[in-house]
Amino acid sequence: MKVRTHRCGELNKSHVGSSVVLNGWVQRRRDHGMVMFIDLRDRTGITQVVFNAERNAAVHQAAHALRSECVVAVTGRVMARPEESRNPNLPTGEIEVFVDAVEVLNEAKTPPFLVEDDAEVTEAIRLKYRYLDLRRPRMQKLLSLRHGIMQAARGFLNAEQFLEVETPILTKSTPEGARDYLVPSRVNPGQFFALPQSPQLFKQVLMVSGVDRYYQIARCFRDEDLRNDRQPEFTQIDLEMSFVDREQVMNLMERMIVTIFRDAGGVQLPTPFPRMTYAEATGRYGSDRPDLRFDMPLYDVTGFAAASELKVFREAATKGQIVKALIVKGGGTIARSRIDALGDAARSFGAKGLAWLKITADGQLDSVIAKFLDAKAFGSALPEAKPGDLVLFGADTPAVVHDVLGRIRLLLGEELNLIDKNAWKPLWVTDFPLLDYSPEEKRYIFMHNPFAAPADEDLALLDSEPLKVRAKAYDMVLNGNEIGGGSIRNHRSDVQLRILDLLGISKEQAQAKFGFLLEALDYGAPPHGGIAFGLDRLIMLLGGADSIRDVIAFPKTQRAQCPLTEAPSAVGAEQLKELRIKLDLVE
Ligand code: AMO
Ligand code: AMP
Repeated sequence: MKVRTHRCGELNKSHVGSSVVLNGWVQRRRDHGMVMFIDLRDRTGITQVVFNAERNAAVHQAAHALRSECVVAVTGRVMARPEESRNPNLPTGEIEVFVDAVEVLNEAKTPPFLVEDDAEVTEAIRLKYRYLDLRRPRMQKLLSLRHGIMQAARGFLNAEQFLEVETPILTKSTPEGARDYLVPSRVNPGQFFALPQSPQLFKQVLMVSGVDRYYQIARCFRDEDLRNDRQPEFTQIDLEMSFVDREQVMNLMERMIVTIFRDAGGVQLPTPFPRMTYAEATGRYGSDRPDLRFDMPLYDVTGFAAASELKVFREAATKGQIVKALIVKGGGTIARSRIDALGDAARSFGAKGLAWLKITADGQLDSVIAKFLDAKAFGSALPEAKPGDLVLFGADTPAVVHDVLGRIRLLLGEELNLIDKNAWKPLWVTDFPLLDYSPEEKRYIFMHNPFAAPADEDLALLDSEPLKVRAKAYDMVLNGNEIGGGSIRNHRSDVQLRILDLLGISKEQAQAKFGFLLEALDYGAPPHGGIAFGLDRLIMLLGGADSIRDVIAFPKTQRAQCPLTEAPSAVGAEQLKELRIKLDLVE
């Protein structure tokens, strides 16, 4: 095989006249009789290669055998393309290579889909033939963006004196709120490792170890329901710092994300990132990860509702629930059937209904519920609603109203094209409640993870009103996606044990689950805190991908399977016996 002199995306006018050797895959062949063209592709791009019968009859003849995706080495001369056949969309579009010799390095079967960005192909087939899928230019770009983001993160953190430390994959369960993936231990029959849901416990132990600043591009494993932004196996840019408060972590991390977006993606994020408390974010946008690319806030109209004649409003208000409204500007033209569909959507999100009204040109209310409402009182309760607008209402507990209207807001944002797809809207969400209450389990559960420290000024509420206690936790949100989350931790074991106690985790359970961390805290743990960013989500956003599956080389499907390797798969009886495992597969 001739050693290549250039990559396929490299040649330009300055190379005209040189003799070159290119290696790559045949993207496509075009037969014009005496002249045959192939597009030769590698990771860097495409070069047009010309087989001219007059120049070299033998290679022109040989070119007939070249099929899509076969691997070749061509030797030839770089020529300027005639004016009319220049391709300004291609970096190599001003030249072509006239072939003097061609060597087929390997044949290829007919691929199940065209290796092109807009090939019509299902995701199942793409994942089964992932090696062909990854040959596509867009996928190569995403892989290279992933690489760039990882290098930018490492560069930034190295310069800030962080140490990259690896933590175990075969470990004990880490409480991040999902189910664990378990690995049986052959040498310790009946015992299991858990794959880490995050390096949380180890990074805290590293702070006790005096590492001071730790980071890791860490693989995390969570057995949870999958979505477009969730994989069972994903990657975090994970870090932890000693002797810091919340401000220091947030400021440094804001600089890191700005640097990554600038260096790896050429995107200038607007700074400083706005900050919003959890209460503000959920109250105003119905979500703790608000999409700020469009406004459409939620308005509280509980006072108006309480004084109205509409039963669903009045009853909600008297029960201590809330009534909130969304204004759809100019929504007066939206058809009744469309509004009914929004009502169905609201019900599917858990609402009991979605009351609505339109404001007519003369300021009257047009709606089936209009007769129960006073137009004047409404006008002064919600002066932002103008003639021609549609107003939608939710009446229920704050949790339901916020969640439902927050989701309706996003749905309308997409449907009415209110979202500026070129905008970058990062923000910090802070002051999360430390705890939440689970009515199903009838107990407190943690909002972030059980290691977040309570706000100093709320410590006194821990016993009396635990749900009012805020955590020193922070999330970074970008365009409606939670891209990172972290907190200042409990570095004293007594405070940590008190919180575990509130979570219904007894001393014995705590000891069994993460006794090593609690013990470590007693040997001089420094105050510390940190954060983890979802690397895959960052790449998805920066690369404009629809799903994190597109930015992971070998992802799992929504059913947590890998079509390429066909994992997970059954194992032989011998292997199970060695592990002392008996299967009990009942439906
Ligand atoms: P958390 O659970 O919030 O925090 O995770 C941090 C970030 O990881 C991303 N992420 C995911 N990405 C893809 N697939 C998933 N299944 C998935 N789950 C989470 C999100 C999220 O913001 N140990 C703490 C961090 C800390 O407190 O320092 C933790 O893991 O972008
Ligand atoms: P009803 O009195 O049940 O016929 O409801 C009157 C209107 O209020 C209908 O448009 C319902 O969709 C709506 N509605 C009912 N319950 C609620 C609720 N909890 N929040 C908002 N709208 C509701």
